[in-house]
Amino acid sequence: MQQGGRSAPRNAAEAPVVEALSAEDAAGLENFDRIIAKDSRVEPRDWMPEAYRRSLVRQISQHAHSEIIGMQPEANWITRAPSLKRKSILMAKVQDEAGHGLYLYSAAETLGTTRDDMMDALVAGKARYSSIFNYPTVTWADMGAIGWMVDGAAICNQVPLCRASYGPYGRAMVRVCKEESFHQRQGFEILLELANGTPEQRAMAQDAVNRWYAPSLMMFGPPDDDSPNSKQSMAWNIKRFSNDELRSRFVGMLAEQVKVLGLELPDDQVRFDADTKKWEYGPLDWEEFKEVLAGRGPCNAQRLERRRSAHEDGAWVREAAAAYAEKQAAQHTAANAQKAAA
Ligand SMILES: [Fe+2]
Ligand SMILES: [Fe+2]
Repeated sequence: MQQGGRSAPRNAAEAPVVEALSAEDAAGLENFDRIIAKDSRVEPRDWMPEAYRRSLVRQISQHAHSEIIGMQPEANWITRAPSLKRKSILMAKVQDEAGHGLYLYSAAETLGTTRDDMMDALVAGKARYSSIFNYPTVTWADMGAIGWMVDGAAICNQVPLCRASYGPYGRAMVRVCKEESFHQRQGFEILLELANGTPEQRAMAQDAVNRWYAPSLMMFGPPDDDSPNSKQSMAWNIKRFSNDELRSRFVGMLAEQVKVLGLELPDDQVRFDADTKKWEYGPLDWEEFKEVLAGRGPCNAQRLERRRSAHEDGAWVREAAAAYAEKQAAQHTAANAQKAAA
C-alpha cells in the first residue's frame, strides 16, 4: 500500500485520488480488518479507521446521553410513588440509569473524546439522545409502561451490542443489560398490579400502554431503507441486526406479554407472518419521530433546561472532586519521594 519505488506515479495526473496510507497505517488497517473478519474485539490501543472511531463516539455518546436524560421522566415520579416500596425501587432504577451513563461515557473516553466535551455538546443542544425521553410522564402507570416497553426495547437493542466489536462498549453493555432486565420486570409488575386493580387503575394502565407503544417501537430508529449508518455499522460488527428486524422481534415480545397483563396493544395490525417468520405491525408516524428528534417534541426544551441547570448547579462538586484528587496525587508523590530518600 505504501507509495514509492517503481510503482510511484510519475506526475500529478497519474496520482491516485485517495491518498495512500503510510506503512504503519496500512499494517494497522490490515490488523483491524483481520480482527473484524475473525469477529474478535478491537481494543482502545489498536489502530482503527477514523470513520470507525467517529461512528463509535457518535453512537456511544448518544447512548450515554439517553441514559442521563432518561432519568428525568421517571425521577418526576419518585416523590409521588404510591408506596415506600415503589419509591425505593424507582429510586434504585433511576440511579442505575445514571450508572449506565457513566459506564458509557467512560467507554467513549477510551476513543479519545473527553467527558467534558460530550457533556458540553449535550447541554449546548448539539448532541442527540433517544427521542423517547421527550414524551411526558403523566400518570403513575407511565412508570409501568416505561419499564415494560422502553426498558424492554432497550434490552432488545442492547443484548446484541454485548457482542459489539469495540471491547469497552461490549463489556459496558453486559452489565447494563443485566440491570435493564430488572427494570423491565419492575415495569411489568406495576402494570400487572394496575391491570388487576380497580376499573380506574386498569384504564390508567391501558392508557399508558396506548401512549408509549408507538414511541417505544420508534426507539429502534428509522426504517432500514432510511437508516444511512446501519449498513456500515453492521459491516464493522458494531450492530448485529437491522432496525426493522429488532423492531419486529420487540413487537413479538409485547404481543405475548400483553396477554399476561390482560391489556391490549393499540395496533390491530400486529400479527405473526408464518411465511416470513416475522412479526408485522401497523404504520408508524415517522414525521412525528423526525419532529421530536429535531427538538420539537413535547418535552425537549424542558429536558435540556433541566440537564443544563443540574450541570451548572453541580459545578462546585466537580471542582471539589478535582481539587481533592489533586491533593491526593500530591500526597502520593511526596510519600514516594520520602520512601526513595529513606
Ligand atoms: Fe439504562
Ligand atoms: Fe433501564
